[in-house]
Amino acid sequence: MNVVDTLKALRAQITQWKQTGLKVGLVPTMGNLHQGHLSLVQQAQSLCDRVVVSVFVNPMQFGPNEDFERYPRTFQADSAKLKDLKVDLLYLPSVDEMYPNGLEQTRVVVPDALTTLLEGASRPGHFDGVSTVVCKLFNMVQPDVALFGQKDYQQWLVILRMVQELALPVEVVASPIVRDRDGLALSSRNQYLSSAQRGIASKLNVILQEVAMAIASGNRYFKMLEETASQNLLQAGFDDVDYICICDPDTLQPATSEQVKCVVLAAARLGETRLLDNTLVRVNSPVKEPLSRC
Ligand code: PAF
Repeated sequence: MNVVDTLKALRAQITQWKQTGLKVGLVPTMGNLHQGHLSLVQQAQSLCDRVVVSVFVNPMQFGPNEDFERYPRTFQADSAKLKDLKVDLLYLPSVDEMYPNGLEQTRVVVPDALTTLLEGASRPGHFDGVSTVVCKLFNMVQPDVALFGQKDYQQWLVILRMVQELALPVEVVASPIVRDRDGLALSSRNQYLSSAQRGIASKLNVILQEVAMAIASGNRYFKMLEETASQNLLQAGFDDVDYICICDPDTLQPATSEQVKCVVLAAARLGETRLLDNTLVRVNSPVKEPLSRC
């Protein structure tokens, strides 16, 4: 595996691959790799001739009181996992390499309608940091395909929108959520949990699935379902619920009773740790008459 930390070295390798017509895949990460990331790598390998993984803990997407400083940095372990998978290139830019003029630089801003609700409401400015760094990584690596986890559903929609509106020549693929045995979505932040919190954490997916089943079996009282789920999360031991919302899967606006497909998204806190999860629901029997969100 070729490991590079400068744009110059990265470009030299990418140019060589492109000259021979090879298809390049990119898996952007912030490191601390788990099976969710590794499944993205494997999917990229099945779609492309060469795979680049980037590891960059992006300061621009963290708020002032968030976990940028303590975000786990586990280079040796990450590098060993990627080597085992025979990844072609690991790109490890420094903050200076990524932001040579500092963080007050040109930004990519996807419209508010998609970026200021849900995660954007809890983490103002977060998606500007994500879209800026992902756009830069696309310009640096020039991938044909880039892969993202569906766990960060809103992030995936924001990136799709950026790619479409800036006409970036890259295919964006979302990969299914990888879960622990008890259903907890894998995340680098799970390791912040104490063992008692870890026991509670799996309830997030259980409660999301209950909402999904209710919708799939015809319940359209979305507001009531959201409120009950939120109470259930608190009862299960979560300290706070940032949101649990039943949304249109393309716009993230509140789902209507006409919806054939929805996404149920949740963010809940255990102590300092914020956990995210979501599930897509296909509605088997859409109701004809519009029902207001009661
Ligand atoms: O999902 C992540 O790990 C990050 O938001 C990403 C896409 C690598 C951008 O920093």
